[in-house]
Amino acid sequence: MNNYVKTAELLVQSRHVMALTGAGISVESGIPDFRSRDGLWSRYDPVEFGYIESFRANPEKVWKMLLEMDRLLTGAQPNTGHMALAELEKRGILREIVTQNVDSLHQKAGSHNVIEFHGHARSLRCDKCHERFPRENISLKDIPPRCGCGYALRPEFVFFGEEIPRDALKQAMDAAQECDFMMIVGTSASVAPASHLPRVAKNRGAFLLEINPMETELSNHTIDLRISQTAGKALSCIVAALNEMGH
Ligand code: APR
Repeated sequence: MNNYVKTAELLVQSRHVMALTGAGISVESGIPDFRSRDGLWSRYDPVEFGYIESFRANPEKVWKMLLEMDRLLTGAQPNTGHMALAELEKRGILREIVTQNVDSLHQKAGSHNVIEFHGHARSLRCDKCHERFPRENISLKDIPPRCGCGYALRPEFVFFGEEIPRDALKQAMDAAQECDFMMIVGTSASVAPASHLPRVAKNRGAFLLEINPMETELSNHTIDLRISQTAGKALSCIVAALNEMGH
């Protein structure tokens, strides 16, 4: 039996299936990940560009990277991996997705139950007067964009050194504790606290599937089944196997 058929069989036998996704699932949509050879952190030092303190000290500098991210995200379309996860939710097989991504591509693919662990890029926020602005209402011709109060606006996503949005943290932890099958797709699982979720699930007896062309810190000890393939190919083969089985 191949791993796609095995996964399909396990999925339909499971009571609560969740997915944990990372930047790798959006690579096939043209958005590079962070830690691969050509990833964002190979060109921008995360200490200089990724921390909230760095943003506060020099928003103009950090916005140069944010502008590049904004251009990559604008117009990006979901790929077959996002579509397959949306299809699994529609069929009642997948309960929720916890994503570390800020690109909204799961929602664009039609997934409804998406927990955005690191926030999102649909709006910008002022950390001084707490005003929020839809991204499309703000011009990025001059950076940093500024709030009416004069303070530099920042995207609604989480920088290093910031807390995870409280609701997202609770919902993700609850899901990890309750699930009996976790699909870990396109993440290096190296950034806490998202990286704790697989171990939380494992400790409660869940089955862990990893879909990633490269090995991660989880691959050798924590994972029950590894599919060494891109997200788009692997997830669409799993859906095809479910079709074959009449699910
Ligand atoms: N399909 C599946 N996995 C892929 C693909 C693909 N097509 N391409 C790359 N990958 C894998 C890589 O092998 C890598 O293990 O996706 C993983 C991406 O890992 P990271 O770049 O570390 O991204 P992620 O795990 O999402 O990072 C977590 O770090 O910088 C922060 O806030 C940022 O949310 C991000 C967090």
